[in-house]
Amino acid sequence: MIRLSFTVSFLCCLLPQMVAAQDAAQNADPRDVNLDVHLNPHQVLGYESCQKCHASEIGVWKQTPHHTTFMTLHRNPAAKEIAGRLGIESFKTDSNCVKCHYTMQADNSGDLQAVSGISCESCHGAAENWIEHHSDFGGPRATRQTETPQHRIERLRAAIGGGMRNPVNVYLIAQSCYRCHTVPDERLVNVGGHKAGSLDFEFVAWSQGTLRHNFVRTNGQVNDPSSKERQREMFMAGMIADLEFSMRATAAATEKYDFGINSAKRTARAAKRLAAAQSKLNQPLLEDILAVFQSVELKLNNRQQLTEAADKINLLGIRFAATVQGSDLAAIESFIPPQENWK
Ligand code: HEC
Ligand code: HEC
Ligand code: HEC
Ligand code: HEC
Repeated sequence: MIRLSFTVSFLCCLLPQMVAAQDAAQNADPRDVNLDVHLNPHQVLGYESCQKCHASEIGVWKQTPHHTTFMTLHRNPAAKEIAGRLGIESFKTDSNCVKCHYTMQADNSGDLQAVSGISCESCHGAAENWIEHHSDFGGPRATRQTETPQHRIERLRAAIGGGMRNPVNVYLIAQSCYRCHTVPDERLVNVGGHKAGSLDFEFVAWSQGTLRHNFVRTNGQVNDPSSKERQREMFMAGMIADLEFSMRATAAATEKYDFGINSAKRTARAAKRLAAAQSKLNQPLLEDILAVFQSVELKLNNRQQLTEAADKINLLGIRFAATVQGSDLAAIESFIPPQENWK
């Protein structure tokens, strides 16, 4: 059992690294930091393709602002002001808003359409190349209970290799949140006047409230919050992802106000919080992450250095999530936001 979970962890550790390296190679244009929040619209299937097996999750999601922004954003006065300052005519086609507020899908003729707000695939990855694999337990009669350990490894490998941001490695999911919630778009903030990210974003508090959809782990029966151990893993993943994506935002900064200052401050704050956790935990991987932070200068027009550092933190964060268990993290229990603070 221990051996198995080690192998799965190891796999889930290395696979995303390979995929991430591929992504990095494909998105080589350094000006396109914002591409990070794009889903490939040609691989998006839409939430309806999850309906057959995940109706409860969809029911929860429909109550959240992630879903309702599709109906409300274009009527929101604040949104109209931002759009006016940026010369945007149509919310659902302009690339500036669609990256974070909508799910885009290519239709048969290749035209892109906003098909919903922030949906399943915004957090779990465009599904075309993983949907078949992730729930195939080894043939039509196999179930989760009868699946062999070897098959489980192959299934996860196929799903993650197909681009799934599978919560089995919680860092992959934390990255999804921070990709949007740090708002890494200088013009949108400085010229448009958009909020410079969700400054109080914290992964446990923001995921365990209204957004929570933990049905699969209890065979669809209930939707309990994640366990204490899981919350600790999520908390650490969120802190590390905060550092990674605040650094990416700082990498995109060319002017001081508002965006540059905000991103640099948030990066420093994330590092400080990680250092506080490390003073209790003494984890070698956290030491490595903090060393990466110490090796960079938080200044304007420092794209290459900051991006390379963020790429290193990406790999370390995936490795941390794959190898450090919640039971190793008891020392940070007092940092976890209590239930009354969950959104
Ligand atoms: C044919 C049924 C089916 C469809 C369609 C389906 N899923 Fe699943 N999904 C499952 C099953 C079964 C599991 C439970 C796997 C397990 O127990 O490990 C699962 C698990 C998951 C998980 C948890 C990770 C994991 O591997 O356990 C996520 C996330 C997920 N599905 C997302 C989606 C999304 C998003 C869609 C639509 C794009 C989708 N699924 C479509 C059956 C399905
Ligand atoms: C890089 C990601 C990103 C992009 C691009 C983006 N937004 Fe946002 N936007 C967010 C996030 C994240 C929030 C939620 C902030 C919070 O509540 O902490 C948000 C919130 C908002 C809100 C406040 C919502 C409310 O109901 O009060 C408005 C208005 C808004 N965005 C307008 C726009 C417009 C207009 C565009 C396009 C010009 C745009 N956004 C592009 C990420 C983005
Ligand atoms: C594709 C971009 C995107 C991703 C990915 C994303 N969000 Fe959001 N989120 C938004 C936007 C945009 C809003 C604001 C919507 C609005 O009000 O119009 C928002 C709003 C929210 C809210 C409501 C905030 C409030 O003040 O009520 C919560 C909670 C939240 N997000 C949590 C999360 C968590 C947790 C994750 C990751 C598991 C995540 N989000 C991933 C874009 C995103
Ligand atoms: C805002 C980001 C976000 C969106 C949107 C989202 N999820 Fe998730 N999903 C998560 C997070 C975070 C977890 C892990 C939660 C945890 O462990 O507490 C998760 C976990 C899951 C799981 C595993 C639950 C379990 O019991 O282990 C399934 C299945 C799933 N999501 C399916 C879906 C489907 C289907 C949709 C669309 C209706 C969806 N998700 C939309 C962030 C998101």
